[in-house]
Amino acid sequence: MLNIDALRSEFLGKLSSVKSLEELKKLKSEYTSVINNLLKTLKDLPPEDRPRAGSQINQLKTFVLESIDSLESEFKKESLEKQLQSNWQDMTLVLDSPIGALHPITLVKRKILNYFRQIGFSVWSGPLLEREDYNFDLLNVPKDHPARDMQDTFYVNIQGYLLRTHTSCVQIRALLSSPLPIYLVSAGRVFRRDDDPTHSPMFHQIEGLVVDKNLSFGQMRAVIEGFLKHFFEEDVNLRFRASYFPFTEPSAEVDISCIFCRGSGCSVCKNSGWLEVMGCGMVHPAVLRNCSIDPEVYNGFAFGAGLERLAMLLYRIENIKTFFENDIRFLKQFNV
Ligand code: DAH
Repeated sequence: MLNIDALRSEFLGKLSSVKSLEELKKLKSEYTSVINNLLKTLKDLPPEDRPRAGSQINQLKTFVLESIDSLESEFKKESLEKQLQSNWQDMTLVLDSPIGALHPITLVKRKILNYFRQIGFSVWSGPLLEREDYNFDLLNVPKDHPARDMQDTFYVNIQGYLLRTHTSCVQIRALLSSPLPIYLVSAGRVFRRDDDPTHSPMFHQIEGLVVDKNLSFGQMRAVIEGFLKHFFEEDVNLRFRASYFPFTEPSAEVDISCIFCRGSGCSVCKNSGWLEVMGCGMVHPAVLRNCSIDPEVYNGFAFGAGLERLAMLLYRIENIKTFFENDIRFLKQFNV
């Protein structure tokens, strides 16, 4: 007859000396084959003894496997504990690592948008990959009009689309979709084939649009004056010079008295005492008509400025390239 009890105590003896998962695995495979071999010997027993022997072997098998499983989960629990101990991290530890700064363009953009929010304007945004008709045609810049050459455009190989050359296209998006009146500002990236110390192929603009009834050039001037005085934190003088933009009539360029020499003449203002900061004008009736707005009932004014230009003046930065070089020594200076 089989000596099951002897096998069981032999197994228990070996089990108690197991120290690792590895050893346990070996023991498991050892006893799996011992038991399998025992099962194979069943056929050699007299038929009347087989059922009892079979059930004894199966009991042994269950006992062996359950003992091994329970020790295995103990080992696993222990090793997890150990791992947790050795990987312990103090989440409350204060590391002395440097804190980043906001990019000067972000600072300037926030300063401007916040100002306009405070005086009741809403903030709009538009896509960088823009419809050609929103960027040009509906803004009263027809296909063969020389004004298209004022902005050297990046076209893309999707028919009817381009990288927007200005934020003025957001005006069209608003005029086509928003109820009147409209008081909006929008800021974002624009793209032009331009590259020198004061021009970058990608730069940022801020756009403003107001459409309401009975608006005047004087009201536009007041809005722009409030904005520029807030922005430069100085009582700057303003000068409006007649200019041309296809989407405004009349159009003007806005100069401020030079914040570096206070008008007496310096290298930044090229001895003129004035700094050109933005464009503006009364919305051209054709633009309103293009967007199904009756120019006999409504009128508007609009303005646009380059954020890099404004930031260069505010922070006295000389080369537009420094905005995009990611030189940490430059960026660190805006850690306020
Ligand atoms: N879109 C013009 C540019 O990129 C800037 C501009 C001028 C915007 C006059 C306006 C405006 O809204 O009224 O040069």
